[in-house]
Amino acid sequence: MTTPAAPRPLSPQPLRIAPNCWMIGYRNPTSLLQCNTYLRIFDEAPRPYNVCIDPGSRYDFPVIDANLSQLIGGISQVNSISVNHQDPDVIGNAPEFCAANARMSLVTSQETWRLAQHLAFVPGRLEFAGETDRRTMVLGNTPRWQVVPTPFCHFRGAVAFYDPEIRTLFSGDLFGGLNQLGRVHLFAEEHDWAGVAHFHQIYMPSREVLRFAVRQIRALTPAVEIIAPQHGHVIVGDQVGIFLEQMEQLLVGIDLLSIELDQKHTKPYAEVMRELLRWMVEIVGREEVADRVQNATDDAALAPFVKVVEGQVEVVSGGYVALGELFNTLTATEPLSFVNEVRNVLFAWCGSRHLPVPPLGAGVDQVPEEPAP
Ligand SMILES: [Fe+2]
Ligand SMILES: [Fe+2]
Repeated sequence: MTTPAAPRPLSPQPLRIAPNCWMIGYRNPTSLLQCNTYLRIFDEAPRPYNVCIDPGSRYDFPVIDANLSQLIGGISQVNSISVNHQDPDVIGNAPEFCAANARMSLVTSQETWRLAQHLAFVPGRLEFAGETDRRTMVLGNTPRWQVVPTPFCHFRGAVAFYDPEIRTLFSGDLFGGLNQLGRVHLFAEEHDWAGVAHFHQIYMPSREVLRFAVRQIRALTPAVEIIAPQHGHVIVGDQVGIFLEQMEQLLVGIDLLSIELDQKHTKPYAEVMRELLRWMVEIVGREEVADRVQNATDDAALAPFVKVVEGQVEVVSGGYVALGELFNTLTATEPLSFVNEVRNVLFAWCGSRHLPVPPLGAGVDQVPEEPAP
């Protein structure tokens, strides 16, 4: 491998995050995205066992290399590297580490390695994490870490590692954040959440996968005290609980798609909703339509989108979500054959206006009969 064309200036020192654990990447005050590489030293005889977590971006190699020299005498003293996923900011330096120590072990998921191997490097040993029967990671000859799969955060095979001795979770991009220019302090403050939210809204696919990951983190014992992500600030103390709670509520990725669609197509969705209401009035009557909508708005699901005024349903706001809710409300008590008929009509109406079709019912021809008692 060649060295990066424009090596960055050296950071002054490794930054300690816990006993025997340092952030050794470059803090770049001119960048919105800091890449964190960590070094964990396990004291054991006859010599320490050194693990580098997320070996980092090629750009930052000179700083990482210098910090390793200062802490353990050089990159060749690293015994193992762990890799959360295969992005270049995570794994760019892995070939350099493996070249420095022919016995280097690489810890990652199979899904990550399938892609990462295309960097054309061969570690001395591969250790796959996250297999169902293997939730403990052996480093050297000792079980050291708990494996915490965080699927789709943001890669399918992303895997975090929990070090119970120092109660530190190495979380990869999960809990990573953008920083304000020039603000590259190591430990997160409350207002740094904004950068974490922004990063997740760009890179994470959905709130559900974040919630899954948060549940796994909360279940860890002993309880997590430090979250060490691959970007931004290290989360400690009260901020751990606060950031976990905020992460649970954050809308990201595909969650935001429906909001974008609503904003972009408000008017034509409203037209389709009015057509649907007129059609249903012809079939079941004005009073019945008003009753169905009134009951649903009492439940709040439909409330922001329609209202009943003097027995007549009026569309307040059209949208992707609103059309789906209105469909559900109007067809909830109808037989499946009729639900499918309405669905097909809406497909046609949305199609003629080039509108994305929201989820509309089960879309099945028939449901199995209830078995006789
Ligand atoms: Fe990534
Ligand atoms: Fe990353």
